[in-house]
Amino acid sequence: MYKFPADFIWGTSTSAHQTEGNNTNSDWWYYEHNKTPGNPYPKEPSGIATDSYNRYEEDFDLCVQLNNGAVRISVEWARLEPEEGKFAQQEFEHYKKVLTAAKSRKLKTFVTLHHFTNPKWFADMGQWERGDAHKYFARYAKKCAEEFGPLIDFYTTINEPQVYSYGGYIKGFWPPFKKNVFKALLVQANLIKGHNKAYDAIKTVSERFQVGLVKNIMWIETDPFGSHWYDRLYCKLFNLIIRDGFLHFVLKQMDFLGINYYFTRRIINLKEQNPNDYLNDLGWWINPIGLEHILVELKKHKIPMYVTENGLADAEDKYRTHFIEDHLIACAAARDKGADLRGYFYWSLIDNFEWHEGFWPRFGLVEIDRSPGENGQPKLTRKPRPSFSYYAEISKTGILENYHHTPLIHKIT
Ligand code: BGC
Repeated sequence: MYKFPADFIWGTSTSAHQTEGNNTNSDWWYYEHNKTPGNPYPKEPSGIATDSYNRYEEDFDLCVQLNNGAVRISVEWARLEPEEGKFAQQEFEHYKKVLTAAKSRKLKTFVTLHHFTNPKWFADMGQWERGDAHKYFARYAKKCAEEFGPLIDFYTTINEPQVYSYGGYIKGFWPPFKKNVFKALLVQANLIKGHNKAYDAIKTVSERFQVGLVKNIMWIETDPFGSHWYDRLYCKLFNLIIRDGFLHFVLKQMDFLGINYYFTRRIINLKEQNPNDYLNDLGWWINPIGLEHILVELKKHKIPMYVTENGLADAEDKYRTHFIEDHLIACAAARDKGADLRGYFYWSLIDNFEWHEGFWPRFGLVEIDRSPGENGQPKLTRKPRPSFSYYAEISKTGILENYHHTPLIHKIT
């Protein structure tokens, strides 16, 4: 048995573009409606998404039913600054209502200022390829701090800067659909600067605000039985460059680190060869202990950590309960080994728009019915899945009955 401390934070995550609907001033919206011939992505437009722009109270009520003490959302830069230098006051007022609705339900607010989408004007001027991109972002971040103040408990500047440049500049399946390693590196450097300058800008409003960054961290390992020296070296170098190297540039301007963990990659003969015994609907290998390894390795940075995303696409809800339990066992084990982990957020509260893939991957504790209603629009009815009850229970008690057991997911055949 393991008991998480009473102040451990339990929550779920979503982002604005994936849930709000009608994010018309963003670069994603533009590309969803102006696809270049031959480019299959995104597979469908985000449209009304889950209509959370209007249904946020219903969503927060679900968080309360989950016994959560926090919620992670994002605010949309493209709404708040639809034209360069012109802030939209009515949108700030909208988000103040949203944040107040969360607070009145006793939910702490973790709010991301940039979750993959850009205002269209910023994209048109070259976005994060520009050496001065940070100026625009820091100005917006400062305005958010001035307007939202303590309505936001934890400011997170940028979500997954590396995934952003990987999707948009290496794989090229996200806007601006480029495949150029040099630009990917440049964008990476500019995002790092963007975070650091936004951190400073928020702190000029109040030193007391908590500001962090959210980073995707995968676990890379070799075959535990009989690995080659060159595979071990590959994994070491990968972690050194992609994880610790990146963190080196941002750690000084960070009050906490958000970690998004989804999968592990096993390298054998310098190739990815996963056992693939348990896969989610997107084909990602599920390996809960990878999260424990990451948290233990990051302990050395002596910074408070939150798992800001962890989840899986699982339309049938076949693995989700055990997936959460196994990952919480990993969190508990890491805490036992001294990792300063203070909270866990499941991705996601509700099924939503999964970027280039569209709506088919189902990450939600709550199922969204996308079948057309009488008006021809998706019904968007919210229906908790069975795993919802498990997460509600653990959030309430903080007790892991099965601590130290072999991964429970292995019980599923
Ligand atoms: C992103 C989310 C995304 C999730 C699942 C994370 O990398 O922050 O926006 O939906 O992964 O792919």
